[in-house]
Amino acid sequence: MNYLHNPVMIEKVIQGLNIISGGTYVDCTFGRGGHSKNILDLIGENGKLIAIDKDSEAENHARTYFANDNRFSFERNNFSQITKILEKYNKSQKINGVLLDLGVSSPQIDNPERGFSFQKSGPLDMRMDTNINMTALSWLKKANIDEIKDVLKTYGEEKYAFKIANSIKEAIDRNMLSTTIDLAKLIQNCYPKNNKSKKNPATKSFQAIRIFINKELDELEKILEACLKIIVSGGRIVVISFHSLEDRMVKKFINKYSIGDDVPSKIPILNNSRNLLLKKIKIPVKASEDEINANIRARSARLRVAEII
Ligand SMILES: C[S@@+](CC[C@H](N)C(=O)[O-])C[C@H]1O[C@@H](n2cnc3c(N)ncnc32)[C@H](O)[C@@H]1O
Repeated sequence: MNYLHNPVMIEKVIQGLNIISGGTYVDCTFGRGGHSKNILDLIGENGKLIAIDKDSEAENHARTYFANDNRFSFERNNFSQITKILEKYNKSQKINGVLLDLGVSSPQIDNPERGFSFQKSGPLDMRMDTNINMTALSWLKKANIDEIKDVLKTYGEEKYAFKIANSIKEAIDRNMLSTTIDLAKLIQNCYPKNNKSKKNPATKSFQAIRIFINKELDELEKILEACLKIIVSGGRIVVISFHSLEDRMVKKFINKYSIGDDVPSKIPILNNSRNLLLKKIKIPVKASEDEINANIRARSARLRVAEII
């Protein structure tokens, strides 16, 4: 089965990266290479694109469909390792831009075997990198009620976190939890019968467990800081996030280095002593209606762009 991914906000991503011919760019979230393909179209004969993804199916796709292009290289790794990866390629030379299109790809969601979907039955897996040992199920078996509750609250902002955590441990004790649908039904039963939200009750818990298993926020924090040292002055960082926790982190990071820490207005501090490293680039944060109509995934996408000073 060839699961496909329709890349979001292509035009704004390209505008945000401000690509120069002959430049070196890193697509940290290759997926099925939708954004990579558009970057390759603009970097010219002497440009370079290094793509990263921790998923072996993304790697297979890159090696099958992109390997003939000698401007392209692929690394299966965590993107937090970008500094080490770059040492391998261009020693101490800085790059011109980084793209992060965060979260899971459509092929990861659509293939029930990957365990990300609460709509199709599959093993409770949720690993982007299937070489790591801990699946969602193995963690739920090992964790105690408080640990599960904390993950559901912190990464899913789930109101019924304690009830769901309790119910998960009960189901595990009775050997009644092994598939995504088992978990989705269990969560639904923890919600009040008159719940009017249009969202599936499993949405927040699945998001929380996925973020935890794949260390998504740790990864994001590390790469944002790394970008400050590996990109040339005038080079860009473009980030697309799909939930508020990530978007908040990106926004805070850009504000921290473009506005600086809050300083009381009467204290005289020169701008150049405020450690400002970034310039915020104003590009619409949300996808247009046309983009959303063409690709429903764009509905929750938030784009943020910053330039290295
Ligand atoms: C939304 S998809 C990217 C889709 C891609 N832009 C395209 O056009 O096909 C996100 C991809 O990033 C990968 N990914 C997420 N977090 C990662 C991390 N910390 N390190 C490496 N890859 C990661 C996932 O495996 C997934 O394939």
